[in-house]
Order: sequence, then structure tokens, then C-alpha cells
Amino acid sequence: MDSAALLFICLAAAVHVAAAATLHDHSQCLDNPPDLSLRGVEAGKVVSDLPGGYTAYVTGPSSSKHAVVLASDVYGFEAPMLRKIADKVGATGYYVVVPDFFHGDPYNDSKNLTEWVKYHSPVKAAQDAKPLFTSLRNEGKFIGVGGYCWGGKFATEMAKTHDIEVVVLSHPAYVTVDDMKEIKWPIEILGAQNDTVTPPEKVRQLEQALHQRMEIEYIVKIFPRVAHGFACRYNTADPFAVKSAEQALTYMLDWFHKYLK
Ligand SMILES: *[C@@H]1O[C@H](CO)[C@@H](O)[C@H](O)[C@H]1NC(C)=O
Ligand SMILES: *[C@@H]1O[C@H](CO)[C@@H](O)[C@H](O)[C@H]1NC(C)=O
Ligand SMILES: *[C@@H]1O[C@H](CO)[C@@H](O)[C@H](O)[C@H]1NC(C)=O
Repeated sequence: MDSAALLFICLAAAVHVAAAATLHDHSQCLDNPPDLSLRGVEAGKVVSDLPGGYTAYVTGPSSSKHAVVLASDVYGFEAPMLRKIADKVGATGYYVVVPDFFHGDPYNDSKNLTEWVKYHSPVKAAQDAKPLFTSLRNEGKFIGVGGYCWGGKFATEMAKTHDIEVVVLSHPAYVTVDDMKEIKWPIEILGAQNDTVTPPEKVRQLEQALHQRMEIEYIVKIFPRVAHGFACRYNTADPFAVKSAEQALTYMLDWFHKYLK
């Protein structure tokens, strides 16, 4: 095959990938919505009086000097699987806070995601959350932020501030290469091979941008044979999906242990 033909094939493949990404843009953000009826026994509780006016699910020892704030995907802080993750993080000794950043208005299927996200910008949410982080700080806590999808962008924004020490992004959405230029703290990015929201090529671009920073510690992993949402919204009947999500949690905990403890 001559090089012109090869180039054509590569271009055709690239165009195909780009078209697929546009077509399915954000749709994976909505796959496997949480089943609220699956709520089991929870180790934590919902509190409604946090600084900044937040309701939140809190779990783990409140006296801990290490806090983890989990930022949910668009479905919000009520998702049973997210709470289970929060309980597991809390069981390792962190005080875990899962705020309702949507103030009672999470995304659901009757809404238009593009419209909804205009009123629930993760960038603005991070700015608004300042009082919450300040109060954790004032309690002497070191803070990690773990974000999923929408929350991945939230975590990214927090990593540009002096209010936290470490972040983990699991299958993030809306995160850009330019964002990486402003990161101030160790960052872990957990991508997925089949993610059409932030596909592996995009994750590699983020990694490259971090690499160029020199002074920022980072780790990037792309989980094979799973899609966007794999860390917090997966098919519990699929052993491979369960195992991948468990590994993602282990990666997140290891990163937090390294920089918080
Ligand atoms: C979707 O959200 C709207 C507005 O918050 C709410 O009125 C409606 O009950 C929700 N629908 C479902 C299925 O939860
Ligand atoms: C959602 O809203 C956007 C922006 O207002 C609009 O362009 C799009 O057609 C809407 N999508 C659906 C499925 O209604
Ligand atoms: C991921 O993509 C591979 C290759 O296209 C496909 O075989 C597999 O079924 C996909 N898995 C998921 C969970 O989307």
C-alpha cells in the first residue's frame, strides 16, 4: 500500500471517530442511571446545614484530619452506588462529604442535559463551594476531591485553588487541555477505553499537558473494555464491570493515601 492510500485510511478513521464522538456526545453521561430503589444499609447520614447551604451525605469519622469530598455525576448525591463508594472511602478513615451540588435539582430523563448543565455549571459550582471547603480547612483537615463525570470537572476546578491537596477524576466530562495548565495539586485521571465523552485520545492529551508541567505529580490510567461511567454506574451483574469499578476505587484510595496521609 502506498503512503497516500495509508494516509487516506487514517484520515477516514479519524473522521469516523470524530463523527461518532459528536453523535454520542454526552450520551454516555446518561447511561445506566442510578436505581434509587437499590438503596441498602448506609453507614452515613444526610445532613442539611453545611456551610454554603449544602445538603450532603456524610460518612466516615468526622474527627479525621483527612477529608474526601466526592463530586457526583449529573444524577447527584442520592445515587446508591455513589454512597456505597463513599462508605468504603469512609471505612478507610476519611471523613467523606458528598454534597448535593445541584440543590435538589439533579438531572433526570425528563430534562435536556444541555439546558440543565447551563444552570448547573461545574465551574460555578466549584466557586460556590468555597465556604464548604473553607469550613473543612478551619477544622484542620487536609482535603482530597474525587469527581465522577460532571464531578470530574468540578474536581479539576478545585485543583486550581489552594483549598485542597489532591484530586482524582474518574471518567471526567468537560475537562480540557487548558485546564491541565492550571492544576496546582497531584492529579489522577481514570479514563475508559470505550468512553465517548472523554475518549482515550483525549485523556492522552490531558496526560501530555500534565507531563509538560514538570512540577505536577500525576497518574493516568485508561481502563480496558469499560465505558464512561464505569467507576460509579455499572452493571452489577457483570463481574468484569464490578472488578473494574473496584480497581478504580483502589486507584483513587491509593492516590489519596499517598497525598493526604
Ligand atoms: C425530574 O425532575 C423534575 C424537576 O426537578 C421533577 O419534577 C420530576 O419529578 C423528576 N422526574 C423524575 C422521574 O424523577
Ligand atoms: C436541548 O437543548 C439544546 C440547547 O437549547 C437544543 O439545541 C437541543 O435540540 C435540545 N435537545 C433536545 C433533545 O431537545
Ligand atoms: C468496548 O469496546 C470493545 C471494542 O470495540 C467492544 O468489544 C466491547 O464490547 C466494548 N465494551 C463496552 C463495555 O462498551
